[in-house]
Amino acid sequence: MLGSAAGGPMYYTGRDMKTTHQGMKISESDWEIFLNHAAVTMNVLQIPDQEIDDVVAFVLSLKDDIVEA
Ligand code: HEM
Repeated sequence: MLGSAAGGPMYYTGRDMKTTHQGMKISESDWEIFLNHAAVTMNVLQIPDQEIDDVVAFVLSLKDDIVEA
């Protein structure tokens, strides 16, 4: 899904983020843990800053559809 959204060659056929995560009670704390893991992973992989900024901006745009508790 991320690869597809980033303009990569993948084609995403799954559900939208609100439908997928509805009812999971994903909290602000869950969200921060996820974001920290993602940030550490991108740093370890030495992803350039511009790409990290692009991914973070896209991921943040999904927050309201994913965090509900
Ligand atoms: C921007 C952040 C996130 C993105 C882009 C994302 C994306 C996705 C995608 C693409 C799926 C598969 C949907 C499908 O195939 O229909 C999925 C499923 C899932 N996500 Fe997320 N997710 C995010 C954050 C989270 C967080 C923070 C949690 C929990 C702490 C979470 C828990 C789950 C679980 C448990 C499933 C499996 C759902 C199922 O099998 O029914 N996700 N997510």
